[in-house]
Amino acid sequence: MIDPILAALDADTTSDAAAEITSLVVDYFAATREVNGPVSTALSSAQIAARFDEPLPRDGVSLATVAARLRDDVMSDCNRLFHPRAMGHQVSPPLPAAIWTEALIGALNQSLAVAEMSPTATVMEHRVVRWMCELAGYGEGSGGTLTSGGTEATLTALLAARSAAIPNVWTNGVGSDPPVVVCGEHAHYAVARAAGELGIGMRNVVTVPSREWRMDSDALVSTLDRMERDGRKVMAVVATSGSTATGSFDDLETIGTLCEARGLWLHVDGAHGASALLSARHRGRLRGLERARSIAWDPHKMMLLPLAAGLVLVREERDLESAFAQRAPYLFHGADGERSWDQGTRSFQCSRRADVIKLWVALQRYGANGIGALYDRLCEVTMAMHDMLVAHPSFEVLHRPEGNILCFRWVSDRSLGDEALDVANRDLRERYNRSGAGWITATNLGGRRVLRVTVMNPRTTPDDVQAVVDGLDREADKSPD
Ligand SMILES: Cc1ncc(COP(=O)(O)O)c(C=O)c1O
Repeated sequence: MIDPILAALDADTTSDAAAEITSLVVDYFAATREVNGPVSTALSSAQIAARFDEPLPRDGVSLATVAARLRDDVMSDCNRLFHPRAMGHQVSPPLPAAIWTEALIGALNQSLAVAEMSPTATVMEHRVVRWMCELAGYGEGSGGTLTSGGTEATLTALLAARSAAIPNVWTNGVGSDPPVVVCGEHAHYAVARAAGELGIGMRNVVTVPSREWRMDSDALVSTLDRMERDGRKVMAVVATSGSTATGSFDDLETIGTLCEARGLWLHVDGAHGASALLSARHRGRLRGLERARSIAWDPHKMMLLPLAAGLVLVREERDLESAFAQRAPYLFHGADGERSWDQGTRSFQCSRRADVIKLWVALQRYGANGIGALYDRLCEVTMAMHDMLVAHPSFEVLHRPEGNILCFRWVSDRSLGDEALDVANRDLRERYNRSGAGWITATNLGGRRVLRVTVMNPRTTPDDVQAVVDGLDREADKSPD
């Protein structure tokens, strides 16, 4: 048994073997370059599951056979994010150089737990974190770590905030009177989830109402005053830079000043919008960011990296170290008090992929300015869609886009009531997405069901968004009502 499997391992290291998989990727790029083929599948999960309903493969088959299954069974019904009319969630059609680097990351398999397991990748992570800290306006002493995404970045940041708020929490727990976390009503669920995970409890998450989809700074002041009157300690204020629903940016200058005056930890969830720092045109939306004690930033969103590439930055690197007051002599050998290269002391994960390599490659290949230009392009196309919808009699827009996210609603001839429109919009999105002509998302805003797009594809042109608008309008006209 061992000889054939050893032979297979060797055979699979050749460029011919690699081409079995890479040619699929190249064909995929080519097929999605033109506007042909469906954006997604019309099949249900149950229908797709039937295709994979098979016993555990006891014996292997050729790589060519596996590649054929990938092509016929996997790629055939995946979401084609490279299709110019894919405008769904905040997931990128990734930068090609970063895609190819995925194979290298897998091949090298360097673990970021400790520097001795990843001699170059650890140093690269420190380098890239420093670049990102500088972009954020952080100085010497700042630090950070890559994460699996924004959810882990915010959890890590709030863990650090918890350590700062509750002495000896690592040993004693949060006690019976935990502090509160204050965030905007449109904050991502990662914030409330972190509060649950950290033992703070969801009921100790206090939400501040929005004004024009941003945290209302006046309401934040009254909330903080109320907390003070009620004797409630505030562990952190969380602002959002690029909210999930509308892509709105909270006013960090005002919120940061308020937090500084009250000695409060400000965490900025910039998972979506911190990449605006690469854009000369849009970086002003993050004015005041350097006042934050911690920042979540997802290169796998608006820097168009393949999943996963998240990042948490802290103004004081030691905040991360005290968050994880962990000793593990079998791994971490740094002498007490000495700055360690080991990132495992600053991160949730122990074994961790060297995702930094693809981020470094993307910056080398396209440059921060190139990626910033892509950011601008996505925002421009979104604004073009906004203008088209404003001019269209059957649609209304919910907001002016601050980035690449836009919410709107099909309103017919405005004779239908809100509830009928909720049903019609829900139905419209489902039918349109099933048609394969394009792919959009939806959300609830102000109690109403609305349509939502996130323009993530630099190939998407104003003609594509016009086609999506026209396609939605035509589909709406086919409505059984
Ligand atoms: C504002 C914001 N924060 C956090 C997240 C979660 O990020 P991830 O999915 O990378 O964990 C998202 C994802 O949509 C987001 O939009």
